[in-house]
Amino acid sequence: MVSVHLVQNPEAALKSCNGEPYENRNHGLGHVAKALAGGFLRHGHEVMLGTRAPSKLAEWATKNPKASISTFAKAAGFGDVLVLAVKGSAAAEALHAADTENLAGKLVIDVTNPIADAPPSDGVLQFFTNLDESLMERLQGEFEDVRFVKAFNSVGNACMVNPQFEGGKPTMFICGNDEAAKEVVRGILDQFGWETVDMGKATAARAIEPLCMLWCIPGFLRNDWVHVFKLLT
Ligand SMILES: NC(=O)c1ccc[n+]([C@@H]2O[C@H](COP(=O)([O-])OP(=O)(O)OC[C@H]3O[C@@H](n4cnc5c(N)ncnc54)[C@H](OP(=O)(O)O)[C@@H]3O)[C@@H](O)[C@H]2O)c1
Repeated sequence: MVSVHLVQNPEAALKSCNGEPYENRNHGLGHVAKALAGGFLRHGHEVMLGTRAPSKLAEWATKNPKASISTFAKAAGFGDVLVLAVKGSAAAEALHAADTENLAGKLVIDVTNPIADAPPSDGVLQFFTNLDESLMERLQGEFEDVRFVKAFNSVGNACMVNPQFEGGKPTMFICGNDEAAKEVVRGILDQFGWETVDMGKATAARAIEPLCMLWCIPGFLRNDWVHVFKLLT
């Protein structure tokens, strides 16, 4: 979990997607949390990472001395904006560990995908949800006071912050029930170099979460993990 105090300050220099491989094969290292935390730091925000195992983040913490590392509960209490970047099947458990009191009214950017513990089939990931439900709706139903916004789930961690593509600014599809929360996320996405397309209420996570399956197919079939979605109108 990443917990952020948003700070108003000038933009930092843009960094490219830089062709780093998508690190999907090494689970449990918090690739997304580290990538997004790095993005928030680069843009001048204050960051605390919540984890069950601080030792796993020791090297990252040495390279990022401005960030602090703590428990899920302390991190949830720290920031105005939380990023839920844990294994999809552990999302509810991580939120319970953060403590519902710390979460009340908080904006949680939900990066999770409901990926099943089963190998991809012909490059297509398997989900533990179906097309008539989504993980974010389940979480919203269980944690009613939280203002969830789905974002960053349909791109690999190496391309999450200020991606540079010849085709121009990529599109991040977002959704959530709270309009003010989505405006904050739109501002973050502006800073992180994305064009935001708001797909409406939490129900739209039924469509946005499976974009992860589509995004991963070129990776599993051709080891191509550097691409982004763009909506042309
Ligand atoms: N990897 C990507 O590029 C990418 C892109 C878009 C979306 N996503 C989604 O973003 C999420 C995070 O992806 P990731 O690749 O960073 O995952 P990851 O490295 O496999 O795991 C992220 C963290 O999940 C936490 N976790 C696992 N089981 C837990 C439990 N029972 N309770 C609490 N925390 C638990 C662990 O935190 P600690 O051990 O530190 O406590 C772990 O560091 C996933 O839902 C993934 O589908 C990933």
